[in-house]
Amino acid sequence: MKKLRKKIIAGNWKMNKTTADAASLAEGLKLELGDCLDVDIVLCPPFTALSAVSGIIDDCHMKLGAQDMHWESEGAYTGEISSGMLRDLYCNYVILGHSERRAYFGETNETVNKKVKAAIAATLIPIVCVGETLEQRESGTTEAVVRDQVENSLAGLDDDLAKIVVAYEPVWAIGTGLTATPDQAQDVHAFIRKLLAEIGGSDIADGVRIQYGGSMKPANAAELLEKQDIDGGLIGGAALDVRSFAEIVKAAM
Ligand code: PGA
Repeated sequence: MKKLRKKIIAGNWKMNKTTADAASLAEGLKLELGDCLDVDIVLCPPFTALSAVSGIIDDCHMKLGAQDMHWESEGAYTGEISSGMLRDLYCNYVILGHSERRAYFGETNETVNKKVKAAIAATLIPIVCVGETLEQRESGTTEAVVRDQVENSLAGLDDDLAKIVVAYEPVWAIGTGLTATPDQAQDVHAFIRKLLAEIGGSDIADGVRIQYGGSMKPANAAELLEKQDIDGGLIGGAALDVRSFAEIVKAAM
């Protein structure tokens, strides 16, 4: 059966680009991709460049996303950014629970869950990241790890489950040049969709888009994206270059 889910390609720029460099990347992407309606395209610059990128892409079809947010709406949380601040800059998306935040900044399924709920309450679309480490894959616990992340990061969402995007990002493939094979990725994507169905029913699960992330690039994007349950990509390194990001988007068309 043919998939009806619209593909979504998001660029996670991580801690890269000054405001000026981010603006020039956004300008270049707008020239190449600004008219694209076939694929949802999301740019996620660092917080400091959100405003500049927002002003550049506001008259085209690309959308803006942030890389994290806090769950409280305001208050004494030094260094944090709220959902309202992101909405104020016309963000539509926010990446939550990225493995780098989980590994280096103490993000847990519980904090991700609070953030997901706060994002949805603010009409931001959360891109919720899950994925196993190399050690976990080699010890055969990939499904257990992903189940724990999905069930606990998405606990209590009920019908709001329909409002999220999931990103499956095997930690061992992020920034390493190693990519999951299309079959390895498809297996986990199908498993995640099964978990979503257990939580929210199959109608909702069938509609949720599940991105693959981890060294996706022009050379491997098409074969990953043609898999039944792979509905897009969360792109790190290859999103920092106009040509490679544009080629990945074209592979999704
Ligand atoms: P990568 O990063 O494409 O550089 O592997 C993906 C991600 O971390 O979202």
